[in-house]
Amino acid sequence: MAKVTIIGAGQTGATTAHWLAERELADLVLVDIVEGMPQGKALDLMEAMPVIGSDAKIVGSNDYQDTAGSDIVVITAGLPRKPGMSRDDLLEANTNIIRASVENSLQASPDAILIILTNPLDVMSQAAMIISGLPRERVIGQAGILDSARMRAFVAMELDISVRNIHCYVLGGHGDSMVPLTRHSNVAGVPLNVILSPERLEAIVERTRKGGGEIVGLLQTGSAFYAPSAALAQMVDAILNDRHLVVPASVNLDGEYGLSGIFFGVPAQLGANGLEKVLEYDLNDEEQAALEASAEHVKETIDELKEKLQIAA
Ligand code: APR
Repeated sequence: MAKVTIIGAGQTGATTAHWLAERELADLVLVDIVEGMPQGKALDLMEAMPVIGSDAKIVGSNDYQDTAGSDIVVITAGLPRKPGMSRDDLLEANTNIIRASVENSLQASPDAILIILTNPLDVMSQAAMIISGLPRERVIGQAGILDSARMRAFVAMELDISVRNIHCYVLGGHGDSMVPLTRHSNVAGVPLNVILSPERLEAIVERTRKGGGEIVGLLQTGSAFYAPSAALAQMVDAILNDRHLVVPASVNLDGEYGLSGIFFGVPAQLGANGLEKVLEYDLNDEEQAALEASAEHVKETIDELKEKLQIAA
């Protein structure tokens, strides 16, 4: 059985383990700095397996030795922004967490593919690539599946049509500047801008952009974790099963969409070796401009990151 390590056994990490264990996709190791908590969640999940009918083994640990030989390491470890904490403080704190997670994981599993969830997503993925020195094929950030799934859910609610028929593509940075491609998104092949009025479509686009905040506002404590973890599980599945599956994901661009050297949400084909290919849409001027504006946002924070890592931009 394949082995997958999840760093950060909080809401998203533990729920990712839940989805993966249920699908019997891999043996799992949940790692956290909090003592007892990953062990407790892992044991609880193990005790659910007889009911589910899965022989996946789930181990909780505070020790990276237990993660040795992992095929994939999913990093969800991070701090949420707390009152009084600036964006910059969060960037610094989470960069340090990414550093510890990446260095320790790769020491134990030198061949692992890294999937990053920690926010700010595109920048933390960049940090993981710089810190690890890995090629771009092996460092992939999760954001686009989630943003696109939110949009698909909103379209399904609006039209009362199966989510299976609804295909939405949200590209760009993971934040307010994300770019929902309404011309390319469709319901059973009918473009969204044909099936929905401009007003309804705009409302769905806006709700998608603010999807994370909507959940935070409702939960009061913590942020979304069911949809983010389902997205992580899909990426793990695509890699472990060598599916050559195209999903929106944050990858380090190498000239695609006219952008280089930054992590950015694009359609990415995933297989056994991680990133296989970036697909390029035929974008009109307006879409390309929106993408470039989003890239500017990401670049600014990446410059701050490079300063923190003391690497020349
Ligand atoms: N090593 C391992 N685990 C760590 C470390 C570290 N250095 N630092 C923090 N953690 C753990 C915390 O102890 C916590 O259990 O990461 C976990 C994060 O879980 P939650 O706080 O429940 O956050 P979650 O909702 O799962 O979101 C995970 O995703 O949205 C992003 O950046 C955001 O930090 C958030 C991450």
